[in-house]
Amino acid sequence: MKRYIIGVTGASGSILAKVLLRYLAGTKAELHIIATDMGRKVFEYETGIPWTAFISTIKQKEAEIFDYENQDMFARVASGSFQVEAMMIVPCSMATAAKIAVGTGGNLLCRAADVCLKEKTRLVISPREAPLSSIHLKNLLTLSECGAVILPPVPMFYANSDNYDEMVYGIAGRILKSAGIDNDLYTKWNSGKAN
Ligand SMILES: Cc1cc2nc3c(=O)[nH]c(=O)nc-3n(C[C@H](O)[C@H](O)[C@H](O)COP(=O)(O)O)c2cc1C
Repeated sequence: MKRYIIGVTGASGSILAKVLLRYLAGTKAELHIIATDMGRKVFEYETGIPWTAFISTIKQKEAEIFDYENQDMFARVASGSFQVEAMMIVPCSMATAAKIAVGTGGNLLCRAADVCLKEKTRLVISPREAPLSSIHLKNLLTLSECGAVILPPVPMFYANSDNYDEMVYGIAGRILKSAGIDNDLYTKWNSGKAN
């Protein structure tokens, strides 16, 4: 069974985490989920769904789901010997991007990302902030130079859709695609079937 790590931080855009996790939960995969404290709070604020209730719901689907405490540095995802296909950080705050770029670790999410970079495992980061300061841009450049894919949550305006959900699915689908996961969220958009 394929394994993925999904990091959720306190940047705006929790709906992307919701759509992406719901989609992955319906597949035959192992999902290792790490949400920061602010990730859980912003998720709840933006979606209206308590984090623990959301995790309980997706646990009833097909995938095998592991939900970690961000302080649990003994968790297996903290180790390079635990092999995964890819890690996605959706959405990624500037604070977390900075910590990963500097390599200070300090929590499980940053440690898992650090491990992906050193082991050359695919790492997809969806950073959300506007406008971006030079500090943000420098950190994102560092991450890109270290091998991470930087995929900001930018809508595909060329799809000419005025449907918010479809825009979100399109972005979530592209993040999955960048992590090597073929999916119909993205395919729909790509083939013009979204409307
Ligand atoms: C409602 C809300 C929205 C936020 N949106 C963003 C954002 O889009 N980008 C960002 O970098 N920080 C955002 N923040 C601030 C982060 O939550 C804050 O920097 C936090 O320390 C990030 O911690 P984390 O990286 O451990 O999740 C937001 C905070 C709140 C309360």
